[in-house]
Amino acid sequence: MSDIEVLKSSLLAAIDAADTPDALEAVRIDALGKQGSVSALLKTLGQMSPEERQVQGPVINGLREAVTSGIAAKKAALESAILNQRLATERLDMTLPAPESPRGTVHPVSQVMDELAEIFADMGFAVAEGPEIEDDWHNFSALNIPDTHPARAMHDTFYFPDQMAQKDENGDGKKMLLRTHTSPVQIRTMTSQEPPIRIIAPGRVYRSDSDATHTPMFHQIEGLVIDKGIHLGHLKWTLETFLKAFFERDDVVLRLRPSYFPFTEPSVEVDVGYSVVKGKRVIGGSEGWMEVLGSGMVHRKVIEACGLDPDVWQGFAFGTGVDRLAMLKYGMDDLRAFFDGDNRWLQHYGFNALDVPTLSGGVGA
Ligand code: PHE
Repeated sequence: MSDIEVLKSSLLAAIDAADTPDALEAVRIDALGKQGSVSALLKTLGQMSPEERQVQGPVINGLREAVTSGIAAKKAALESAILNQRLATERLDMTLPAPESPRGTVHPVSQVMDELAEIFADMGFAVAEGPEIEDDWHNFSALNIPDTHPARAMHDTFYFPDQMAQKDENGDGKKMLLRTHTSPVQIRTMTSQEPPIRIIAPGRVYRSDSDATHTPMFHQIEGLVIDKGIHLGHLKWTLETFLKAFFERDDVVLRLRPSYFPFTEPSVEVDVGYSVVKGKRVIGGSEGWMEVLGSGMVHRKVIEACGLDPDVWQGFAFGTGVDRLAMLKYGMDDLRAFFDGDNRWLQHYGFNALDVPTLSGGVGA
């Protein structure tokens, strides 16, 4: 037997013996790689005389083809064996019960915001938004709270450093802050949309305040209606319809008290009646009252600040805490727990993701 035939039978034997793709790859590199035995033989062809090459050429190329096709056939065989083995072992019994898997819940604040959007959408309100990083003008001045107004101090505002002031159209510096209420969305809506306007604006607000009923970040929802001939009667009907739908009771009683906000005139604070059932306060009836909303007729100066004529356009606005509404409806007593991210609390108070609030199904279903 010639050397080439010896090499060929030893390589074919090695291919046959390779029982994993890695072992086969090692044989391939040994034979056909840059330093491989077959590659070395192919290189010798260059130095041969034409006569010699005529004899050796077909022999060496024949060796290369035999090794190449041997490897390809073995590779296909190994791969199909591996696949068959996986198919045989990876069996899934679809009749077994599903394993217990962790399930997330919808946070009560998100749920209540969805409930509110659903209730107000039914009354023709759109949802509006504004930035949480606001400027002084939208958060205060345009809402008739000038620089020196004591209401600014009451808001416990988080201001940004002066270096972060942004330039307005006139190049003057605008002091930036975290919005202290959702009322600046009133201004942003009135300056960007033509009346008539009917919007609600839910979102995060910030005040430097912290105890069992106050957190530095909390949620409010703002409502704004601007149209011709709007009066307090429209405000009262809207709030009554909203609160009855939200608490899902017809015996919700409202009490309107005169109050003061710089951006509404007259201003009205809204209380809702409660009854005491087994020592707990339940909304409905009138054994006692709790404050739920601030509201009023939009101040002429605010309408003017937004470039509208207050003799043509009037409206009402209201604002309330979303977290507080959630606490009242679903019976939580510590606001701080809302933002702890404690999974046990969320499992207890959270909502199934499929419980999408609808008016027909009861908003809090
Ligand atoms: N922005 C007021 C607050 O944060 C609430 C309010 C909104 C009052 C709209 C009247 C009208 O307390």
